Amino acid sequence: MILETKRLILRPWQEADAADLYKYASNPEVGPIAGWPVHTSVENSKEIIKDVLSKPETYAVVLKDTREVVGSIGLMIGKDSNMDLPKAEGEIGYWIGVPFWGQGFIPEAVRELIRRSFEDLKLQKLWCGYFDGNIKSKRVQEKCGFVYHHTEENKPWPLMGDIRTEHITCLPREKWEK
Ligand SMILES: CC(C)(COP(=O)(O)OP(=O)(O)OC[C@H]1O[C@@H](n2cnc3c(N)ncnc32)[C@H](O)[C@@H]1OP(=O)(O)O)[C@@H](O)C(=O)NCCC(=O)NCCS
Repeated sequence: MILETKRLILRPWQEADAADLYKYASNPEVGPIAGWPVHTSVENSKEIIKDVLSKPETYAVVLKDTREVVGSIGLMIGKDSNMDLPKAEGEIGYWIGVPFWGQGFIPEAVRELIRRSFEDLKLQKLWCGYFDGNIKSKRVQEKCGFVYHHTEENKPWPLMGDIRTEHITCLPREKWEK
């Protein structure tokens, strides 16, 4: 599936994207705050594309202007989410390379994935989360209509080997339809 917004193309990841992925995912300001380790080499990025980013409804964020791969956005449905959701509910996750922060690219991508979730996939409820202190991600969720739901404290996060506090936000289909 290929999705399109005014400035972006959202399309499946390809192994050929490994060098672009490494360029942005090797920056320590990106992965750890989102819950995954810094990429250590182009080869490591290629493995991540094969093992993680090839999952259904996971998209490379590509700038229409330059065709450059600059970030990632994904929808994890039901049991595939980090939240053990029912099958009509999904969780959205995202990141974008530091040079592209602050231009509203991720909210633009999130709004399209929300549309896909409710219109095409007929989901009933969407969830997002951000770790304590990640104000930038909190803002994305607010701007896209997600509303604070609850906080999970002392959550073990095996991928980073630490314990975190995660704030969870929610967007029910009915709220989006209004
Ligand atoms: C969170 C993130 C995806 C936001 O994407 P984005 O396309 O920059 O989103 P926006 O342009 O809407 O910016 C969101 C907020 O980030 C902050 N921000 C923007 N540019 C910034 C910059 N250069 N430096 C610091 N903060 C900045 C602003 O508070 C902005 O909110 P505002 O619109 O109310 O001013 C991006 O910062 C990112 O990838 N961060 C690291 C990974 C991550 O946190 N992923 C989410 C895990 S839950």
